Amino acid sequence: MVLNGKILSEKIQLEIAEKVTEITKNGGRPPHLAAILVGNDGGSQTYVAHKVKACGRVGFSSTLLQFEDTISQDFLLAEIEKLNNNPEIDGFIVQLPLPQHINVDLVIAAIKPEKDVDGFHPVNIGKMVKGLDGFLPATPAGILELLAHYNIETQGKNCVVIGRSQIVGMPVAILMSRANVVGNATVTICHSRTQNLQSFTQNADIIIAALGKPEFLTAEMVKDGVVIIDVGTTRVPAPNERGWVLKGDVDYASVAPKCAAITPVPGGVGPMTIAMLLKNTLKANLLHNSN
Ligand code: GUN
Repeated sequence: MVLNGKILSEKIQLEIAEKVTEITKNGGRPPHLAAILVGNDGGSQTYVAHKVKACGRVGFSSTLLQFEDTISQDFLLAEIEKLNNNPEIDGFIVQLPLPQHINVDLVIAAIKPEKDVDGFHPVNIGKMVKGLDGFLPATPAGILELLAHYNIETQGKNCVVIGRSQIVGMPVAILMSRANVVGNATVTICHSRTQNLQSFTQNADIIIAALGKPEFLTAEMVKDGVVIIDVGTTRVPAPNERGWVLKGDVDYASVAPKCAAITPVPGGVGPMTIAMLLKNTLKANLLHNSN
């Protein structure tokens, strides 16, 4: 079974659009998302463009703040403070990665937790770990939504997460182990120092590949009937018009025949990230409107 994130994301976006109509009908202000993009990374530009476009589709306002990669950390922190204090903005994101000379932890900590719709702020990560209500990071939340939608059993399953990034690996491992309907898995986090990775992946009922190495996971590394979530999005040079193709972390052609379920790249996890970001922004708007 192919887990189609594109179709599910579109369904969620329709539901969000309906809620926005309701908000504006009742005299409320539509949700407003701002995005900060620093530098010219092709992938980041595309992702942010998708996010802004999605805002338009569901009736949100959006603001894109684009800066050269030479801006100072202080300048960026000042821009964040402006967004924190702008009552018209419900939530905002700082697209990652940031240039080397900027301290990403400092930047994320500067975002007001109530506007941190990426769910990256330590307060929101702490809430996630404790199972308290906050903003969940979009990609991990999207993965859980996809598993829920396709009724994939996670209770008591062996779940191997490959990669321990702050954006995906670490938070999705926490979410999969939480005592929830989608969750209660026995989670192993594998990473660059893991010895004999194959011994873990071969025993996994669910594999979440989020290491950023194209076609890393191959057929001999997985068992029959495995569920695979492929978070990879690496641009690999190719002789086409764009000059590249998007590759996941999974060697889809060899692995898919062994899977009970698998996400494609593109069209799997990526669109779910956008849907969850919109969902968080709607939530932020409802919080602000009710205050
Ligand atoms: N870079 C890769 N994924 C993400 C994301 O979900 N949010 C932000 N802000 N940056 C990213």
